[in-house]
Amino acid sequence: MNRDDFYMLNKDIVYLDNGATTLKPYILSDSISDYYNNYSANAHRGDYDISLKVDSMYENTRELVRNFINAKNSNQIVFTNNATDSLNKIIFGYFKNHLNACDEVLITKSEHASNVLPWFELSDEIGIKVNYIKLDDNLKLTLDNVKNAINENTKVISIAHVTNVVGDIRPIKEIIDYAHKNNILVVIDGAQSIPHMKIDVTELDMDFLAFSAHKMCGPTGLGILYVNENLLDSIKPIIVGGGMNASFEFDGTREYNEMPHLLEAGTPNIADVIGFGSVINYLSKIGMNKIEQYEKNLRRYAIDKLKKVPNIIIYNEEGESSIITFNIKDIFPQDLAIYLNKYNICVRAGNHCAKILKDELGIKNTCRISLYFYNTKEEIDKLVSVLNNPNILEEII
Ligand code: ALA
Repeated sequence: MNRDDFYMLNKDIVYLDNGATTLKPYILSDSISDYYNNYSANAHRGDYDISLKVDSMYENTRELVRNFINAKNSNQIVFTNNATDSLNKIIFGYFKNHLNACDEVLITKSEHASNVLPWFELSDEIGIKVNYIKLDDNLKLTLDNVKNAINENTKVISIAHVTNVVGDIRPIKEIIDYAHKNNILVVIDGAQSIPHMKIDVTELDMDFLAFSAHKMCGPTGLGILYVNENLLDSIKPIIVGGGMNASFEFDGTREYNEMPHLLEAGTPNIADVIGFGSVINYLSKIGMNKIEQYEKNLRRYAIDKLKKVPNIIIYNEEGESSIITFNIKDIFPQDLAIYLNKYNICVRAGNHCAKILKDELGIKNTCRISLYFYNTKEEIDKLVSVLNNPNILEEII
């Protein structure tokens, strides 16, 4: 659906790597060009008309994001560089100051590097333990396994809502409810979920949520961090400078601004924030429930067709998200991706930044297709027909 909104969809490519980044609708570059061509002043620093317009457009996007995820207040929405940056800002700006050496954080082996490495670093710095919640036989995270992993030292559960290789949708409502009853905070990496489904952070009582604009038709270099209102006053900036301070003196006394400006030091990514505002309006107009339903149907269609491809191994046939991970027996995944590229089909191959998942998956590398609302059954048919090529091995060798 909405294919006419995308310049790249006029070309002869089948783009199935939306988990890495999505295509961008015209409306994004139009609004970014409008800013650069017509009112490219700085934000929060000028008293003249075009600067005031920038302030209002920039803050309008914050309000649009607030509404999109149903946060209570726009001061709970911070603009960052990407989901990785959002996670780092939470882990080093909040947890570094609230955890002690005996405390434990729980993650899983299917987390993305951005939700593993900052915890390892923090563990080196302050001695916290990083432990793993067991995944079930289908590599899914169950509430029972969460319950079994918790002990009296557990202070944080940090997990993806939808993982980027297995694509399982975690029962985050139940996990958050249970965690809160046990005084445990929950960090949600929403990079692979927010683009695909309606999320209500207030209803879910989320503590922290990180996601990226570029995985939802938005610009690269822009992330979002949501913080629960009860935690807003306890965060410290990990980057300091202009824009985040109210005053400072020669003797080192200083006063910092409140959230969200506290975490937005320096000139922000104004053009992209404004562009993202137009994208939020665009997605809202299509409707997130409609997007979710469309992708679910397309996934089912794709699984039914892919299952019949000779020698295919699908690692997440039972999943519900738009991520399908597979291999073809005796073909190295990167070779398969290069072969598909000959037919203008874009997929991702490798470990997909989830490098410890190999322990659970039993294999290091896979091919991944990840769908978005503009993909079609015809594109799946093309993929399947290229995979069904009886000369596939000869073409690869
Ligand atoms: N995290 C992105 C992916 O899964 C880049 O492809």
